Amino acid sequence: MRIVDGSFAAPIIALHGGAGGQDPKSPDAIASATMSLLAIAAAAKGLLAKNVSASEVLIHCLKAMEADPQFNAGLGSALQADGHVRMTAAVMSGSTQTFSGVIGATDMLHPSVLANHLQKSDSRVLSSPGVELLARQIGIPVASPITQSRLTQWVDKVKAASCDTVGCLILTTDGKLYAGTSTGGRGFETPGRVSDSATVAGTYASAFAAISATGVGEQIIDDAVAARLETRCRDGMNLGTAAHKTFAEAQARSRSYGWIAISKNGEWSAAHTTPAMSYVVQGAGEGEIASSKAKS
Ligand code: GLY
Repeated sequence: MRIVDGSFAAPIIALHGGAGGQDPKSPDAIASATMSLLAIAAAAKGLLAKNVSASEVLIHCLKAMEADPQFNAGLGSALQADGHVRMTAAVMSGSTQTFSGVIGATDMLHPSVLANHLQKSDSRVLSSPGVELLARQIGIPVASPITQSRLTQWVDKVKAASCDTVGCLILTTDGKLYAGTSTGGRGFETPGRVSDSATVAGTYASAFAAISATGVGEQIIDDAVAARLETRCRDGMNLGTAAHKTFAEAQARSRSYGWIAISKNGEWSAAHTTPAMSYVVQGAGEGEIASSKAKS
């Protein structure tokens, strides 16, 4: 359980690799996830310096995390109780305040690409069969996200909630905020159970703040975590105060979730009521980097 915050110069890139459930992740697992996030954040900083658009960098980061099987998103997603993977991803552009996402995506490695594609659609959150139809229409390759290790967990009927959702936030130098979240879900859940990530409780961005939540989706939805943090900032609270208030409420209700958040002013917050969460926050200034422990 931990809450950290600060303030960095833009552009800021914040990533999380999930807060897990109440079963503590080993220090080695957190260190390994953090190393991966540090490399992805460094690459993203380089892309922003080359004037690649923030929305492209957001998807670059989400794709990189979805491609890394240590995270529960894309390749290596957890299996639902019937042995199928159903992934959820969402993105939100703060300047247009446009949310889009996919729910229950199967047979692909990068649901975030579809979520991003829907930014310009008039139907912006799709489940089956719309997800599969769109994937074929725009040429997303058919691929299995199931890894041997996730299959073994499922065969062993590991019910422990894994919830290692990934998330990415960006604040650009001209003050625009972006948020994206991608997840394989809680693992071993009822087939068709929907994650919080493609709701405004799990992913939110506006002109005021961007937030990506991770952890037990039902609790994130019950507490409207991302929308609540954003509303507090919108109504004039600074992000640090908003985050500490939201964290105290989560603790009082014995919640198992976490978040990363950035405000329009460059304030950031990384918090988890679970034992551990891998995260990186990288600002533009010299030494402006905060992260979970990269070496155990
Ligand atoms: N936060 C991921 C999930 O509960 O599905």
